[in-house]
Amino acid sequence: MQEQFYRVIAIDGPAASGKSSVARELSRQLGFVYVNSGAIYRAITWYILQKRIDPEDGECITEVLKSAPITGALQDNELRVVIDGVDPADHLRDDCVNEKVAGVSQFPEVRQVVAEKLHKDAYSHNLIVEGRDIGSVVFPDTPYKFYVDASPQVRLQRRAAQGWRDEIAQRDRADSSRPVSPLVIAKDACVIDTSLLTIDEVVSQIIARLKQLGLPIAS
Ligand code: CDP
Repeated sequence: MQEQFYRVIAIDGPAASGKSSVARELSRQLGFVYVNSGAIYRAITWYILQKRIDPEDGECITEVLKSAPITGALQDNELRVVIDGVDPADHLRDDCVNEKVAGVSQFPEVRQVVAEKLHKDAYSHNLIVEGRDIGSVVFPDTPYKFYVDASPQVRLQRRAAQGWRDEIAQRDRADSSRPVSPLVIAKDACVIDTSLLTIDEVVSQIIARLKQLGLPIAS
């Protein structure tokens, strides 16, 4: 990792594995800024759909992104995504976004834009970043890597409890099989199966591991 980066805790895993709840609680306890990289991919997807750009036209998406800056607004220790001056938070879970986001995320140029944004964030804050390729590709040199998983049944139940319609199995397949930055377990990641654990139990396991790795944490 380049010297200038602040500390980064990477939390990767498939859809509805519990990443967001765990990352938010960790952010509260450690004071690190929380970033959901999936929200950035969702914001890009929402933006291009709204501009009536074909979500399968990588070249056109790349061109449009050149004039649509992606920034962040810090709110309650969370960096919320802003695209072309608009906060799309209310639309990130729209059905059309759920359906198209994995396709849009497969384009290397789109991934490059998101990685650059995350690197920029890491020059100014200690971060907890959740996603699919954070430990494997975006911040490969951070020692603080976690892969959070749960059984497919539990993940489906969690998503249903959130009241969201989301073909998570389909998205997981697309995310795991794409050629660029697929969802993989980084070789030095600590893997946690959250199927039978509460959020607090997962957070405790992560904090114990971070202490083992030498991250200074007041207990
Ligand atoms: O919340 P959920 O786990 O359903 O997904 P998300 O984190 O909001 O991510 C939405 C989609 O963005 C994923 O299915 C991936 O296609 C893409 N994504 C990615 O490719 N790389 C990341 N680091 C994060 C998300």
